[in-house]
Amino acid sequence: TPHHSLLAALPKCEHHLHLEGCLSPSLTFQLATKNNITLPSPSSDAAYTSVETLTERYKNFSDLNDFLGYYYRALDAIITQDDFEMLGWEYFTTAAKDGVKHAEVFFDPQSHTARGIALGVVVSGFNAACKRAEKELDITSKLIMCFLRHLPVQESRDTMQAAVEEGYFDITTKGQDRTIAGVGLDSSEVGFRPELFGEMFMEAEKMGIRRTAHAGEEGDPTYISGALDTLHAERIDHGIRLVEDTKLMDRVIKENIMLTHVGELPIRKFLEEGVKFSLNSDDPAYFGGYILNNYCAVQNAFDLSVEEWKVIVQNSIQGSWCEQTRKDELL
Ligand code: HPA
Ligand code: ZN
Repeated sequence: TPHHSLLAALPKCEHHLHLEGCLSPSLTFQLATKNNITLPSPSSDAAYTSVETLTERYKNFSDLNDFLGYYYRALDAIITQDDFEMLGWEYFTTAAKDGVKHAEVFFDPQSHTARGIALGVVVSGFNAACKRAEKELDITSKLIMCFLRHLPVQESRDTMQAAVEEGYFDITTKGQDRTIAGVGLDSSEVGFRPELFGEMFMEAEKMGIRRTAHAGEEGDPTYISGALDTLHAERIDHGIRLVEDTKLMDRVIKENIMLTHVGELPIRKFLEEGVKFSLNSDDPAYFGGYILNNYCAVQNAFDLSVEEWKVIVQNSIQGSWCEQTRKDELL
C-alpha cells in the first residue's frame, strides 16, 4: 500500500499479542516432528494433512471457540524451554521488522502445564526471548500471564500462586531478571464472566501486579464494566462491543482506559469520541498478519491523516507499562 513505508517507520508499542498465537502451521509441523508429537490424524480432521491445508483452515474460523480449538491443539507440539524461546524469538524478529519498539505480550501457562510442562520451562523460555530481544533488537518488553477463563478458577489460582512463590513476577523476583509484569484473562469469553476472577485480581493488585483482561470481544458490554469493577483492569483487550454502551464509553474515556486490538470496525467512532486504543497483532499465525499488516489494513479502510496516526502512536506509547524513561525515548 502507498502508506506502507510511512506506517512501517512509526515507533510501535504492542499490547495485545499472544506468543502462542505466533505458532504458524509450518512451525507446528516442524516442532511436532522434532518432538515426536502426533498431531490429529488427517482422517479425523483433514486440516492436518499438510501445512497448506492447515493454513487454509485457519482462514475459515467460524467463531472464537472454533479458533481456540485449533490454537490449543497446535500447542501440543511445543515441549522444551528452547521451543518456547524459539517461539518468542519468532515473534520478536518479525516485530522488529514491523517497527515495534516495545511489546507487552501474553502467554497462556495453563495451556502448557495442563500437558505436564513445568511452569518454569514456559516462563524461562519466553523470558530468555525477551532478554535477547532487548539486547539484539532494541525491543523492550513485558510478559503478561493470562488465565484461561474457561477452566475452573482454582486452576488459575494455583498457577498464580506458583508464579508468585517461584518468583516469576518482576515485582516479586528473587534476584533474577524476570519480565512478567502483569496478569490477563483470555480464552472463551461468553459464559465465563470476569467477576469469577475478582478475588484473584484484587490480590494481584495488592502485590503491585498490573492487570488487563479480554472483554467485549464476543461478550456484551457488561463484560467490560465487570472487568473494570471487579478486576480493576487497567486496559481492556478488544473491547469492540463498547460501542453499544455510550455511558460506559464515557467512563472508559474518563478513567483513561485503553482498548487493545479493536480491529477495523469502530475506529473512526473511537477516534471521534476520544477513546484510546492501540492496534496490535493478536494471533498473527492464525489471523493473517503481524502488527504492520493491521496498521496498513486500518489505513486502507479509514484513510487516516498523519495527525490521527500521531494520536494513535502517542496513545499506545503512553498506555504502555514501560518505565517513563523508555516512553520519553519513544515519544
Ligand atoms: N481471544 C480470547 N482468547 C484468546 C485469543 C483471543 O483473541 N487469542 C488467544 N487466546
Ligand atoms: Zn487476544
